[in-house]
Amino acid sequence: MNEYTLANAHGMEAKIIPYGGIVTALSVPDRHGQLANVVLGFDNLDDYQTKNHPYFGALIGRYGNRIGNAGFTLDGMPYKLPVNNGPNSLHGGNAGFDKQTWTVDEASSSKLALSYLSKDGEEGYPGNLTTRVIYSVTNDNELRIDYTATTDKTTVVNLTNHSYFNLSGSGSIYDHIVTINANTFTVIDDTLIPTSELARVEGTPFDFRQPKCIGTDIRSAHPQMVVAHGFDHNFVINRPADNSLVLAARVSDPASGRVMEVLTTEPGVQFYTGNFLDGTLVGSGGRTIRQSDALCLETQHFPDSPNKPDFPSTVLKPGETYQSTTVYKFSTSG
Ligand code: BGC
Repeated sequence: MNEYTLANAHGMEAKIIPYGGIVTALSVPDRHGQLANVVLGFDNLDDYQTKNHPYFGALIGRYGNRIGNAGFTLDGMPYKLPVNNGPNSLHGGNAGFDKQTWTVDEASSSKLALSYLSKDGEEGYPGNLTTRVIYSVTNDNELRIDYTATTDKTTVVNLTNHSYFNLSGSGSIYDHIVTINANTFTVIDDTLIPTSELARVEGTPFDFRQPKCIGTDIRSAHPQMVVAHGFDHNFVINRPADNSLVLAARVSDPASGRVMEVLTTEPGVQFYTGNFLDGTLVGSGGRTIRQSDALCLETQHFPDSPNKPDFPSTVLKPGETYQSTTVYKFSTSG
């Protein structure tokens, strides 16, 4: 596999491929300095290209998450998108940014700059979108992702990375302890599209304002948990209305001592507990990937924003620059 390796002085290492801009491996130290790969992936390019996998480590675009009924109207023009998730369009369609080979613009031992031109009409979206993503590994044990995009026609954009994390490097994530900086989440219908309601987390399984073990409420009978088979919800990050980096979530693993903080400029984060992983895929090192083997924290604008005028806008116009940054910062405790 044509992997680019980014590393820092502490041995943290990220491996990334141009296909899908996929993070194929991310090695971070535990409390004793032992490195382990904390993301799901495959050992070879062929698996990424031929296995029907749920976006392991990939860059997601042009629109991360779902757009209801696979369509939207922009400036009075209706746009139809590929239907690939129930009646909806998920993660940019059938051949989203995760299935494109990105151009490597710059590569060093700690930084990889990728770009991709998504043509006007590709997967149904209007406008030629020039997208640039810079991955960097810092000496503060961070994997930083900077996204920018420009367009020549009004369009919608929502970019993210779809890494699946397991801070132990194996086993389930039920013992991971999660904090999410959110007082509300977007309530979903039975096709996982937001209803527009922002519900308070208080008194629900969605209350992660204080550190909570994932296993505590994973099998809750709360209707929102049943519909999604676990956590698969967009949390509304408590943040100022600017584009500063704020803490969205923190995950700690008592077994290894590894801690991951997710900081972002985005207004939302999809907390997904790998509910649809079903044991049919075999990942790196021969590992069978089963339900709740990993979790995602996909920083994003809210799902279905193009059809939800009350949500923060995902519209990008010619002359504007889409900008988004997310940092996955690793440390240890205990
Ligand atoms: C979605 C899940 C989906 C997963 C893989 C997540 O962003 O919210 O419902 O199963 O991506 O496609």
